[in-house]
Amino acid sequence: MGPVNIGVVGLGTVGAGTVQVLQKNGVEISRRAGREIRVTHAAVRNLESRRACSLEDIELTVDAMSLVHNQDIDVVLELMGGCEHAYDIVISALRQKKHVVTANKALIATKGNEIFDEASKQGLVVAFEAAVAGGIPIIKAIRESFSGNKIENVEGILNGTCNYILSEISDRGCDYDEVLAVAQDLGYAETDPYFDVEGIDAAHKLTILASIAYGTHLNFESIHVEGISNITHADISYARELGYRVKHLGIARRQNDALDLRVHPCLLASDQILANVCGVMNAVKVNGDAVGETLFYGAGAGAGPTASAVVADLVDVVRTLTSDPFNRVPHLAFQPSELSSFAVTPIEDTVTAQYLRLTVVDKPGVLGDVTKILGDEGVSIRAISQKERHMDASAVPVVIVTHQVREGSLNRAIAEIESLAISVAPIVRIRLEE
Ligand code: NDP
Ligand code: HSE
Repeated sequence: MGPVNIGVVGLGTVGAGTVQVLQKNGVEISRRAGREIRVTHAAVRNLESRRACSLEDIELTVDAMSLVHNQDIDVVLELMGGCEHAYDIVISALRQKKHVVTANKALIATKGNEIFDEASKQGLVVAFEAAVAGGIPIIKAIRESFSGNKIENVEGILNGTCNYILSEISDRGCDYDEVLAVAQDLGYAETDPYFDVEGIDAAHKLTILASIAYGTHLNFESIHVEGISNITHADISYARELGYRVKHLGIARRQNDALDLRVHPCLLASDQILANVCGVMNAVKVNGDAVGETLFYGAGAGAGPTASAVVADLVDVVRTLTSDPFNRVPHLAFQPSELSSFAVTPIEDTVTAQYLRLTVVDKPGVLGDVTKILGDEGVSIRAISQKERHMDASAVPVVIVTHQVREGSLNRAIAEIESLAISVAPIVRIRLEE
């Protein structure tokens, strides 16, 4: 069979990385796909920018839609990011009867339901392995390899930038802004790094994982989201003294008839596996009722790892070019007519242990007031430590680790403590996962 022609929209970290991998490993890749795969066209914003791949035999344009309407292009790779323009490109490509591969988790998490409807209508594939956990083949694993299981939990470190920042602060005492700038230079961060550090990117990924794990429509709005921007070096150090590391986790758990879906920083005991996943690495634990616990580990961001996932999708698409559309793997693992909706547990009903850092005035009776309020709300203390006052400070940090507590009760206790005159700064709270 003749070659398959690819149009790539975006030649940044992921786009150029993908072209580079296709150029470097072209022979191996064609042997796997059964056909030669060649990038014939690419769209970018700036034609003059230097690219991290050879542009030989690639026609460059600034008009992404021209690739979509080019009759010679068989598959479109959407690797530019963002939602609105990317949505137009993907939908238009499908209407032009082209399969699509994308790494865009924001797009899939927020517009995936419409995109998969259109793809099914057209009998086409939209592949998105690179959208979650970089180079780790987690979509394929959950969607295909765990088909025999009722999946209980999917949880892990889903954002490479957050993990890189937390690791560098924890292990090398680096400054938050400086490490974030390095993560941007290394191509890990989103165009707007707010998406990374405020947990939105991880929530996009958890939306996708929850959907394929539990057979539900994509529902980004249902995720409780917190980022790492208010985690300080002090909290990381106090947690370490207590035997914990701070990690940013995405958690999806089946609880009776509801789903617990949340993204936030967590304390993890330092001997836990996820506590030892450092730098840009991601790790995802999946529990199925038949398989038990499984763990997937690999680089969560960057050119090579993400390109690896994009090219794997591309090979799958090329293999299916000639296959019957009705016998393909469903986009969200379950047959579209079998997708259901689940109730989502309100965050107030979540039960976890919690780390609290209070900043309180240093005078007699303060700890008594604090522990009474916690006790009245049924919050049991597992560890407590008052840190020494700095010479020029009028307040002291008090670190408390609670036993398991319902979030709503703890919220009331926190609000009451914060309303007291002894409390001089908002309480920092980090959930603790056993
Ligand atoms: P970059 O910012 O590095 O690259 C974006 C590319 O898109 C650039 O080449 C840019 O052109 C091009 N582009 C932007 N707007 C347009 C437009 N209107 N028309 C044509 N081209 C356009 O982003 P990344 O490569 O980092 O990310 C791309 C996608 O991959 C995003 O969805 C991201 O979330 C996802 N992703 C990223 C990962 C990573 O590690 N970076 C990992 C997994 C997924 P120009 O270069 O001329 O400005
Ligand atoms: N910005 C993302 C991250 C890229 O840091 O994880 C990979 O999806």
